Amino acid sequence: MSRIQRLIRDMTLAEKLGQLTMTAAGYAVTGPVIAGDSTDGIKSGAIGNLLNLVGADHVHEMQRLAIEQSRLGIPLLVGLDVIHGHRTLFPIPLAEAGTFDPRLWELTASEAAAEAAADGLAMTFAPMLDVSRDPRWGRSAEGAGEDPWLGMQMAAAKVRGFQGASLAAPHTLAAVAKHFCGYGPVNAGREYASVDISERTLREVHLPPFEAAVAAGVVAVMPAFTDLAGIPLTAHVDLLRGWLRGRLGFDGVIISDYNAIAELIRHGVAADLTEAAVLALKAGVDIDMMSNAYRSGLPIALEHGLVSLADIDAAVHRVLALKENLGLFENPYGRGARAESAATLTRRRQLAREAGARAIVLMKNEADCLPLRADPARIAVIGPLADAPGEMRGPWWAAGVAAGHVSVLEGLRTALPHTDIVHAQGTDILGTDTGGIQAAVDLCDAADAIVLCVGEAAAMSGEAASRAHLDLPGQQRLLAQSVIERAHARGRHVIVVLFSGRPLILPWLFEEADAVLAAWFLGCEAGHAIADVVTGRVSPSGRTPVSWARALGQVPVFFGERPTGRPADPKDHFTSKYLDVPNDPLFAFGHGLTYGRFTLSNLRVSPPRVRESDDIQIKVDVLNEGAREAEETVFLFTRDRLASVARPLLELMGFAKITLRPRAQGTVTLNLAAAQLKFLGLNLQPVFEPGEVEILVGPCADRSRLLVHCIELMR
Ligand code: GLC
Repeated sequence: MSRIQRLIRDMTLAEKLGQLTMTAAGYAVTGPVIAGDSTDGIKSGAIGNLLNLVGADHVHEMQRLAIEQSRLGIPLLVGLDVIHGHRTLFPIPLAEAGTFDPRLWELTASEAAAEAAADGLAMTFAPMLDVSRDPRWGRSAEGAGEDPWLGMQMAAAKVRGFQGASLAAPHTLAAVAKHFCGYGPVNAGREYASVDISERTLREVHLPPFEAAVAAGVVAVMPAFTDLAGIPLTAHVDLLRGWLRGRLGFDGVIISDYNAIAELIRHGVAADLTEAAVLALKAGVDIDMMSNAYRSGLPIALEHGLVSLADIDAAVHRVLALKENLGLFENPYGRGARAESAATLTRRRQLAREAGARAIVLMKNEADCLPLRADPARIAVIGPLADAPGEMRGPWWAAGVAAGHVSVLEGLRTALPHTDIVHAQGTDILGTDTGGIQAAVDLCDAADAIVLCVGEAAAMSGEAASRAHLDLPGQQRLLAQSVIERAHARGRHVIVVLFSGRPLILPWLFEEADAVLAAWFLGCEAGHAIADVVTGRVSPSGRTPVSWARALGQVPVFFGERPTGRPADPKDHFTSKYLDVPNDPLFAFGHGLTYGRFTLSNLRVSPPRVRESDDIQIKVDVLNEGAREAEETVFLFTRDRLASVARPLLELMGFAKITLRPRAQGTVTLNLAAAQLKFLGLNLQPVFEPGEVEILVGPCADRSRLLVHCIELMR
C-alpha cells in the first residue's frame, strides 16, 4: 500500500477536508499574522495548506506544527502570488511578453521560483494565462496580451521556469495556470463581471494557453471567479471535468480562487455553503481557498448523499500526490533550508535590469531625439512617476518591498554623473493638485532635454482595477501639455516615460511628445533599465504585445478579428467603420522602434505546396540602414482567405530576432509546421483544409507593412 493510500485509509473526514482547505496567513514584512484559527487548525489537521506566508523561518514554524503536532504529520503546502518575481521584482508579465523572448520568460520564472522557495514557498499562483483585448480590465497587466499563440509560448516557458526539471528540487515551485478560463473578456471590461463568448472564441482564443500549460506539465489550475454564459467556472463540470481533466488528461490539482466556492451563492447557483461545496467538488475542484465551504459543507453533503466519500478521497489523493511530487514528505524543510548568497541576489538584479531594458517599447522617437546626446549639461526630470520607486513594482508585488526599487531619477543620476539633473513632481498621480505644475514647467527653460514620467499608479492595474477612462489619471495631462508647450517654445525635446499596466488611450500625448517609451512597470531595476535605453547603453528592442487603441470606443481592438461581409472601405459608406475614428489602432501589436532602421526584403517560402505533415521554411532578408546596432523582431503571420469558417485577418504563428550592426544585412529563418495551419471547422473539430494561405512577415500586425507570399495547402 502506498503512503497516500495508507494516509487516506487512516484519515478522519475532518483531516481529509483539511487537505482540501487553504487558509490565508496574513503576511507582513515583520512576520506572519496567522489568520483566524490557522495554528489550531494546522495542529488538528483541519488546515492542510496556507497562502500568503513568507519567510523560511515562519513557513518552517508552521510546517513544524503540521509535521510534529498533527496526528498524521502531513506537510503543509504554502503558496503565494509570485507573479513577476518574489523579492526581486521583474517586469510585469505584460511588459515581459513584449520582449518576445521565451528564454528570458523561463529564466525570470526560474529565478523567482528559487527566491520564493528560499523563502519556504512551494507554490505560486502563476502564470496568469488570460488573453485580454480590453484595456479597461486591469488584469491585462498580469498576462501575455491579446494573442493566444503568444500566450501559449509564455505559458509553456513560465511553467518550465517555475517547475524546473523536477518539483522535488528545493528551488522549484508548483505553478498554477490561472484563471481558467475566458476571464479576459469580462463584460464592459469590468472586473469579475459576467462573460458571454462563443464556444468558438473560447476554443480558438482562451483555451490554447491552458492547453500549452498542461502540455508543459503544469501541476495545478485555478478556475476564474467569473461565470461563462451563466455557469461559474468554479462549478463548470464540462470545462473542468470534461475538457481539462477529460480531454486534456490533466490529473493535477484544481485550486479555487480566493473564496470563489462561497461566491457560487452570490452567482445564484448555490443556496448555501453546502450546495456550493457540492457543485465545486463535483466539478473537480480539489482545494477550497479561503471560503471554508469544504470544511463546513461537505460533511453535511456526505450525510445527505450529495457527494460520496470517493469524491472526497479522489481530491485528497491529488493534493497528497502534489505534496509528494514537491518532496514535502521527504524534505518538508528543504525549501528555505539555506539563504541565497549575496552574489545570487546581485546576479538576479542584473537580470531584472536586462529584462527591464528589453521590455521597454520605444513607441515614438521623433527626429531621433533618443538616445540622448552624450553627457547633456542639464536634464529636467519631471512628473509624479519620476521619483516613485515603490510604483515601479507594478501590481502583485508579492514580497517585493518598495525599498530597493530604482526610480527613474536615481537611474538617470547614476547613468549621467556629470549631468545636472533637476526634478519636479509637478502633480501627483491621482490627485487634483496643480500647484506644482508651474515650477515643473519652469525647469524646462534651462534644460537640454526633458524626461517626463507619467502614467498609472502600480495599484491602478492588476486585480480589482478596471478603469472606464484610459487617459492619464489626475492632473497629469495638464502637467504634460504644459511641459511640452514650454519645452517646444524653448526648442527642447520632451521624452515621455509612460508607466501603465495596460495600453492607455493617449492620442494627444503620442501626437505632442517627441519620444515616448512604454515602460509598463519594470520592477526593482526600472530606473537603471530606463536610463540604459535613454542613454543608448542599451538599444530598445521591446514590441507591444497589445494593440493601442485611438479611442475607447474602438475597444476591443485586436489584429485577429474576422473580415466581416463588409470590410472597411473608405469609398463605400456601408462598410464596417466608424464615422469618427479609423478602424486601425494607434499602434499595432508588435509595434516598437529601435535605434536601428530596418528594412525587410526578398521573402521566400518553401515548399510552395504543402501537406499537413510538411514543415514550411520562411526566409527574409533584413538590412539595418540605421547608424546604430539594434535588434529587430520579425513576426510571422498567416491569413487563410477562403475556408469553411471565416478566418481571422491575421494569425500570429511565430517570431524571430536578429541583431545587426549599422548597414549590416542578415537573413531570418522561420519554420512553420503546416499542421499549425489547422483550425476548428464548422463542427469545432480541427481541420486541415486545402487551399491557398498567405504567409506574411514583418515588423508588426499592420498588414500594410508585411511582405506576403502565398502557398497551397494540399490534402
Ligand atoms: C486573488 C486572485 C488570484 C490570486 C488569489 C490568491 O483574488 O484572483 O489571481 O492568485 O486570489 O491571492
